[in-house]
This record gives sequence, C-alpha cells and structure tokens, in this order.
Amino acid sequence: MTTPDPADRVLARASLAEGNPTGWFEQLYTAASRGEADLPWARNVPNPELAGWLRPGEGRRALVVGSALGDDAEHLASAGWAVTAFDVAPTAIEAARTRFPESRVDYVVADLLNPPGAWHQAFDLVVEIMNIQAMPREFRPAAVASLAGFLAPGGTALVCEVAEESTDVETWVGPPWPFSRAEIESVAQGGVRLVSLQTIRAGARYWATFTR
Ligand SMILES: C[S@@+](CC[C@H](N)C(=O)[O-])C[C@H]1O[C@@H](n2cnc3c(N)ncnc32)[C@H](O)[C@@H]1O
Repeated sequence: MTTPDPADRVLARASLAEGNPTGWFEQLYTAASRGEADLPWARNVPNPELAGWLRPGEGRRALVVGSALGDDAEHLASAGWAVTAFDVAPTAIEAARTRFPESRVDYVVADLLNPPGAWHQAFDLVVEIMNIQAMPREFRPAAVASLAGFLAPGGTALVCEVAEESTDVETWVGPPWPFSRAEIESVAQGGVRLVSLQTIRAGARYWATFTR
C-alpha cells in the first residue's frame, strides 16, 4: 500500500499541468483555512536565520516576498522596519491580517512575476525566503530580475533557497526546485552585488546577502 500524496503535492501537480505556476498556493491556503490541508512551510514563528540577522529598521523600508502568514514581516516590523509584505495568494494575505489585527505591516496581494512598478529600487531591505524555488525553473530568471529590482541603493537583500548540492538532482521531484550556486549569484544583476553566500542547515539551504 502507498501513502497518499499530501494536498500541496496534489494541488501543485494539477496547477502546474495547466501551466499555472502559482495557482495552487491559493487553493492550498483556502483548503488550510477550512482545516482540510496543512501548509508545510507554516511554523508560526519567524525564520531563525532572519531573526539571527535582524538589525534595527529605524523607519527604513523593508519588503517581504511570499509573506505567507506574516511571521517574518511582523518580526521586522517589531524591530522598527516599515514593512510591505506581499503574497500571490489572497487567502494568505487575509490570514496574516486576521492573525495580526493591530499590525503596522502593509499586507498586499501581488505577484513577484508582475510586481507594482512603484516598488522599483524602493526598499532598503528585501527578504526572499523559499519562494522563488517554489515556482518551476522557467520562471526563475523573471523572478530573480524582479527581486533584484526591488533593492534601493545602499540596501540589503537576504535570499534563502534549497541548495542543489544537498539534493539528488536525478531523482528530485519539485516543488521546490533547488537552486545552484550560480542561480543564487544571479541575483547580482543590474547594479546589485553579492556580499556573502553560505550554506546553512547542514548544507541544505543557501543563505546569501546582496547590496546595490
Ligand atoms: C514555500 S512558501 C514560503 C513562505 C515563506 N516565505 C516561508 O519562508 O515560510 C512560498 C510562498 O510564496 C508565495 N508565492 C509563490 N509564488 C509567488 C509569486 N509569484 N508572487 C508572490 N508570492 C508567491 C506562496 O503563496 C507562499 O506563501
């Protein structure tokens, strides 16, 4: 007997088969809101590496990509960052607003593949943790270009993705689709520079910082 695939796998497969790289996220958040599925990434606490990095925001602008249920965005806001947090799934944004009714975070439904033009070079801190890897590889160049474009001069971008070198690429089935070092380094484009790149979590993920 085989174990049935979890809801995220089933929904992702159907959405991707229709050529829709992100539709399954909204379906999964909706199912989770009804108690019918689990969100495999939801921990209800901030990402520990982001928490370890945290600097005082002093009113500077931060952008959280793929903000999910809002834990990273709220953590940055509590350290004085003026945070915009976006997700492609409306139900995720609604859930974050409901979880944090007094929040100062500006939660927005938006797509990294087609972001608002006003966000161009508008953020002193850009946080991308485990989102671009959740879209098939063909969308990666566009997603990485959007990401690099958000960063203001003198700002910092933090990027974390599953590391290809920790996976068996022959047998691996996405999502997520792991990053190579070169793909992480490709965030350094259009005036953005790589500051540091390390592996974390026993080599399972890359953690990189960039500036412009
Ligand atoms: C694997 S989860 C990671 C969530 C969170 N960043 C974390 O580290 O736990 C990916 C998140 O990115 C969102 N997402 C996926 N593609 C997106 C896109 N093109 N634009 C904005 N958000 C996206 C999903 O809805 C989901 O909340």
